[in-house]
Amino acid sequence: MPITPTEKIWMNGELVDWDAAQIHILTHSLHYGMGVFEGVRAYESADGPAVFRLTEHMERLHNSARIMMMDLPYTVDELVQATKDVVRASGLPSCYIRPIAYYGYGEMGLNTLPCTVDVAIACWPWGAYLGEDAASKGVRMKISSWTRHDHNTMPPASKTTGNYVNSSLAKVEALKAGYDEAIMLSPQGFVSECTGENIFVSRNGVLITPPIAAGALEGITQDSVMTIARDHGFETRFDYLTRSDLYVCDEMFVCGTAAEVSAVNSVDDRPIPCPGPMTSVIAAEYAKAVRGEVDKYKDWLEHVD
Ligand SMILES: Cc1ncc(COP(=O)(O)O)c(C=O)c1O
Repeated sequence: MPITPTEKIWMNGELVDWDAAQIHILTHSLHYGMGVFEGVRAYESADGPAVFRLTEHMERLHNSARIMMMDLPYTVDELVQATKDVVRASGLPSCYIRPIAYYGYGEMGLNTLPCTVDVAIACWPWGAYLGEDAASKGVRMKISSWTRHDHNTMPPASKTTGNYVNSSLAKVEALKAGYDEAIMLSPQGFVSECTGENIFVSRNGVLITPPIAAGALEGITQDSVMTIARDHGFETRFDYLTRSDLYVCDEMFVCGTAAEVSAVNSVDDRPIPCPGPMTSVIAAEYAKAVRGEVDKYKDWLEHVD
């Protein structure tokens, strides 16, 4: 989906004009793929634009940086404030937000220790990532021929830019084969996650999602979904899944900030009942929660004004 420019981008403490937010061609992270980033959404609420679980996203950005031994020059609170500033400057009622920290211009070579760390936050309008009817009609999944990184190769717990080469290879492979999204397996053959979403399946009434040890990112939507599910009396747990567990599941959905809650209608051409009853309840409740329409989840919203 093409990017729609907005007014300003926050770069290293300043709000700069969209077209002026530029970097040098010798920027370190462009060459070696070591930057850390987040994907966040602001939603229209009765009290103006509100960013969903913004502090948790900035905490995860800090954790990603810690794993990479990258010293972020801004605290979580400063990044929260900067995000609010850039969303406010955009004048948008809702938007997608992309914070990124990267090694800047000035050093080359694989030793990152002398590099400067630059930080930017941009926002722009972005609709449903897997399609407007993904929650109702569901998406077609393909198990990728590409394997998710091993923890000792590229730590999947860190949302590092270079990790997403693996995701892009899988995504393009799935799209070219006529599917909507890819499912990644870990080097040990367990289900890990999708290219940019966590996976949930229901088997015998229990909602199961793969653990971090299987190569999944610690998803903020995953956490929200588990809370919503439990509050509706659904049993949930982290557990290892094989591809066969997916083929015979009772229902399945994927979730992430960009994709929100999207139902799955088939995996490798094996149909899955869609949308399943738990999927429908959770997708509807999540859609209300992010807009501040559910009292008990109002703390998840961080208002811009
Ligand atoms: C690989 C991967 N898994 C899962 C997710 C879902 O995480 P979240 O719900 O925090 O957006 C994302 C999105 O950031 C992702 O890129």
